[in-house]
Amino acid sequence: MANNNITYGFSFALIICMSAFSLIPQTTSSSSPFQFPPNTSTILPEPSSFFSPNLLSTPLPTNSFFQNFALNNGDKPEYFHPYSINSSSSSLSLSYPSLSSTSAFISQTFAPDLTISASQTIANIDEANSSHRVISGFTDLSVTLDFPSSNLRFFLARGSPYVTCNVSSPTAVSVSTIHAILKSYSSNSNTKFTVQLNNNQTWVLYTSSPSTLTRSSPSTLTFDGYSGIIRIAMVPGSDPKCESILDRFSSAYPISGEAVFTKSFTLEYKWEKYGRGDLLMLAHPLHLQLLSNATVLDDFKYKSIDGDLVGVVGDSWELRSHNVSVTWHSIKGVKQGLYPEIVSALRHDVKVLSSTPITTASSYFYGKLVARAARLALIAEEVDCLDVVPAIKKYLMDAIEPWLDGTFSGNGFLYDPKWGGLVTKQGSTDRGADFGFGVYNDHHFHIGYFVYGISVLAKIDPAWGIKYKPQAYSLAADFINLGNQSNSNYPKLRCFDMYTLHLLGWRTG
Ligand SMILES: *[C@@H]1O[C@H](CO)[C@@H](O)[C@H](O)[C@H]1NC(C)=O
Ligand SMILES: *[C@@H]1O[C@H](CO)[C@@H](O)[C@H](O)[C@H]1NC(C)=O
Ligand SMILES: *[C@@H]1O[C@H](CO)[C@@H](O)[C@H](O)[C@H]1NC(C)=O
Ligand SMILES: *[C@@H]1O[C@H](CO)[C@@H](O)[C@H](O)[C@H]1NC(C)=O
Ligand SMILES: *[C@@H]1O[C@H](CO)[C@@H](O)[C@H](O)[C@H]1NC(C)=O
Ligand SMILES: *[C@@H]1O[C@H](CO)[C@@H](O)[C@H](O)[C@H]1NC(C)=O
Ligand SMILES: *[C@@H]1O[C@H](CO)[C@@H](O)[C@H](O)[C@H]1NC(C)=O
Ligand SMILES: *[C@@H]1O[C@H](CO)[C@@H](O)[C@H](O)[C@H]1NC(C)=O
Repeated sequence: MANNNITYGFSFALIICMSAFSLIPQTTSSSSPFQFPPNTSTILPEPSSFFSPNLLSTPLPTNSFFQNFALNNGDKPEYFHPYSINSSSSSLSLSYPSLSSTSAFISQTFAPDLTISASQTIANIDEANSSHRVISGFTDLSVTLDFPSSNLRFFLARGSPYVTCNVSSPTAVSVSTIHAILKSYSSNSNTKFTVQLNNNQTWVLYTSSPSTLTRSSPSTLTFDGYSGIIRIAMVPGSDPKCESILDRFSSAYPISGEAVFTKSFTLEYKWEKYGRGDLLMLAHPLHLQLLSNATVLDDFKYKSIDGDLVGVVGDSWELRSHNVSVTWHSIKGVKQGLYPEIVSALRHDVKVLSSTPITTASSYFYGKLVARAARLALIAEEVDCLDVVPAIKKYLMDAIEPWLDGTFSGNGFLYDPKWGGLVTKQGSTDRGADFGFGVYNDHHFHIGYFVYGISVLAKIDPAWGIKYKPQAYSLAADFINLGNQSNSNYPKLRCFDMYTLHLLGWRTG
């Protein structure tokens, strides 16, 4: 299963299905969207052990940038550019990860450079009814982590050079390290604290009101009885110029961030900003190519596994891509002289197609066969060999309908109301079945193939398209819901990362 082909297939299917769907006449009915038969997965974790109760009634993201916080014990690091964040039930650790590479791979290593924790009170534990950590909010570009029993709330925004924490009532907040503290000192105003470690890192901490930071053990510093905002940042290269930039933007912080598709070929980031002044965030190299309107601080840089991250000032970004031509057929056309050879291969393939029944029940391999047949129909159109199209149409109808009607024996699509998404019948009881479809892996591949086949079939038979439109839109919305409430059965863009701007899955990082 070559990644390139699959990824290409995905982008292609995405474009094709969006354009094909636009051919299907819009019905004016405001009825609720089609839902596949609900069933409770026996293998999916309980969202309530990770998310706060107010988030449980709407679909939850899977394959998300904070997925490790909602899997198993939720105690594996996630990378937020430029820091990796790990958390236990009572503390949060930041790492500015070191990179190692060979000519074949690059990897980063988590080391807890600073760990933040706070005193827990019996009263707090009673009140919160748990000593654990919960996800209390998430947006496309941020996640909020609460430690209710220690009064800490972390706003983790992607591409923020600072980690921001709100301490909601007077609490002893500790900052400890696995390194040796060489020096720590405070500014005259007692709102900035500098900590030099023996790994060459300099970290700065900013508080929204004056405080004192005392050494409570050789590797621990403590703010006593502090409440308010604390912001923590590593100074790139311990460079005083970078430190003064961090000082300058220390009092404006992002508490959430949405990525919205506004105009064609344009994605906008809108950060919700609190505090005073302008917001400082970081852009990766692809952002820099796409940013159409931004104040870039070229000399303010962090290293990352995705290339250098550079400072950008502002709470709204506009990212504009090249126009992509959306079409069914090849963009540059096929040379007429090659038609006979293509037609001959096409006739052969369609003959084989019609005489080879599908024997697999795997959503992945079945989907691949559907998409392959659909591709033959488009090739037939392009090389003017329309007499093979009816055979392909029959093959597609026979293959696709049982999955949309729920009559396919041995497998099928079911709706998981807990996380809000599709699972396959086989995948709902076996996490290894259908390449992990039942644990929300790779939906864009499996469903992408079906959606591509459905789109082509709707193109060659619009009446069929209208008949199956509700099921078709429901399938597509599982992984390409744009999150504008047009289909509230699914989370927004299940498999696409809005900060790194690429797909997410077991096989595509
Ligand atoms: C629903 O789930 C139950 C329990 O896992 C299973 O026995 C049943 O066959 C499932 N129903 C369908 C339609 O797959
Ligand atoms: C992350 O934190 C958990 C809980 O403290 C710990 O068990 C785990 O080893 C940490 N992971 C790393 C990579 O340090
Ligand atoms: C308190 O915790 C218990 C045990 O985890 C749980 O069963 C109960 O539902 C919780 N109560 C509230 C109000 O969250
Ligand atoms: C921080 O916590 C305090 C106390 O709960 C609250 O009043 C304030 O609104 C919080 N700030 C943010 C940005 O959430
Ligand atoms: C710290 O920096 C010095 C001088 O650049 C270098 O020799 C040393 O190896 C660095 N130490 C670490 C732990 O990175
Ligand atoms: C950049 O965006 C800001 C805020 O939306 C706007 O005020 C400004 O006119 C824009 N500048 C350019 C050159 O487009
Ligand atoms: C790109 O697409 C936009 C929106 O569809 C359109 O307004 C613009 O003219 C196109 N630009 C080019 C160079 O094709
Ligand atoms: C919401 O989604 C629907 C269906 O994809 C689309 O037609 C509509 O334009 C979207 N609305 C907005 C505001 O993006």
